[in-house]
Amino acid sequence: MVKIRGDYIGASFGDFILEPGYTTREHLPENIDITVDLAGMKIKPFIPAAMRAICDENFALEAAKSGLMPVVPRAYSVERQVKIIRYVKEREVRKGELEEVDDPIKLREDETLADALEKVNTYGHSNLPVVDKSGNFKGIFKYRQEYERELMQSPDMPVKNLMVPLEKTHYVVGEDRDEIKRKLEEENLRMLPVLEEIFDRQGKREYRLKKLVFRRQDDGYRIAAAIDTYPGWKGRVERVLEAGADMIFIDTSDCWNEFTESLMEEYKKRFEKPICVGNLVGEEAFRLFADLGADAIKVGMGSGSICTTSQVLRVGAAPMDALIRVTQARDRYYKETGRYIPVIADGGISDEADIIIALACADAVMLGKLFAAFEESAGRVIETGGEKYKEYWGEGSRRAFELTGDMKRYSLPKDSKYIIYQGVEGGVKLKGKLKPGVEHWVQTLKQTMMHVGAKNLKEYHEKAVLTRLTQRSAEKTGPHGILVED
Ligand code: IMP
Repeated sequence: MVKIRGDYIGASFGDFILEPGYTTREHLPENIDITVDLAGMKIKPFIPAAMRAICDENFALEAAKSGLMPVVPRAYSVERQVKIIRYVKEREVRKGELEEVDDPIKLREDETLADALEKVNTYGHSNLPVVDKSGNFKGIFKYRQEYERELMQSPDMPVKNLMVPLEKTHYVVGEDRDEIKRKLEEENLRMLPVLEEIFDRQGKREYRLKKLVFRRQDDGYRIAAAIDTYPGWKGRVERVLEAGADMIFIDTSDCWNEFTESLMEEYKKRFEKPICVGNLVGEEAFRLFADLGADAIKVGMGSGSICTTSQVLRVGAAPMDALIRVTQARDRYYKETGRYIPVIADGGISDEADIIIALACADAVMLGKLFAAFEESAGRVIETGGEKYKEYWGEGSRRAFELTGDMKRYSLPKDSKYIIYQGVEGGVKLKGKLKPGVEHWVQTLKQTMMHVGAKNLKEYHEKAVLTRLTQRSAEKTGPHGILVED
């Protein structure tokens, strides 16, 4: 159970700092496992919010490929939900199976170390095939951390001098899948270039890169579907499960009510797939749904970056208060019953530091703003003042209303004269691609866990000691008293 020093009333993620713990060799980043077991599914603990500004076909597929579980928004028609789930499941590659990339990002051998590192950072690939001017395959550039240091001294070093040359790399010629599979397994490789033999004008043998083949390390592609609690939910559940959804998320702003309670009773009688209930903010609500068999519980109200609920209705909770209350309740419940119910922190997690603090208590975090900023999110790119932004808007905003024509999310009838918006529309600065972005979160989280002395999330929860900062010391967690160069 997370330990807290100091009063936490009214706290947010940024109000805390972690105490370091004793670190041994087994806590080095390469030995740390950051995945969470969500109802038997191993995923990265960052769940994209169930919002139309984030999740469409392309986003869902890219997220699933990166070991995440996207949640298809409930505000879509059931047909659109089914389409997105099918789109992902039809392309699924299971653990150990082969994933093919036909036109991978390449480096030319006369490009420099600086170019290579830029591509590694932009695309998140640590192995890049190298070709010559005519497009012939010459070797593989393999990212190593010491290159970051070398970059200072020799940014212009040609890739040719750094790559593992063709004669020293593993590869196959021709597309015999059995041979590819055998080679990957025998040599215990993650990736293999598939080449085609050609002869140039002088009759010299060269190789063309046909594709890269990877052996999938993560589980298969996971995808969940969000539902509301209105009549008709059963039909939606049947359709999305039939399409292949791995999990159902009850997506309400406040689930502590008789509608969600009776939905849960019925769901558990009829369906087997795991279900997450949310959102709630206190122990009593947690226990109600824990007893009804919730497979995960989502916490938070009024703290989302696009949310105005706490301003408009004055109902909600400080996000860390709610999370501490509910995760302490989760641990007590586990001691009493032996049933561990993962808790997902949702809303107001606005940077990596917030992710790290939230995961000291929660098993996973649901992120809206942070996923909306990636190129792959469903929102359009807007350019203003020379900067690129992605659209991002709340499911309770005017825009959401205009798209769907009702405010079911907030129990307002279709013909209501009074529309009480609880969200806003805006933009977030474009942040590049999802894969390297998520990898950065993973690496930062591992660094923190190393300092705390935790080799997995379970140990992180047990060992984390959070100190509540005063406003003055919170200000000193960043650079202060100096002129900062960007
Ligand atoms: P963020 O990560 O701070 O951007 O918050 C995302 C979360 O805000 C979502 O997962 C929802 O729980 C919540 N949310 C989405 N749309 C709205 C809205 O319009 N009003 C209030 N909360 C919302």
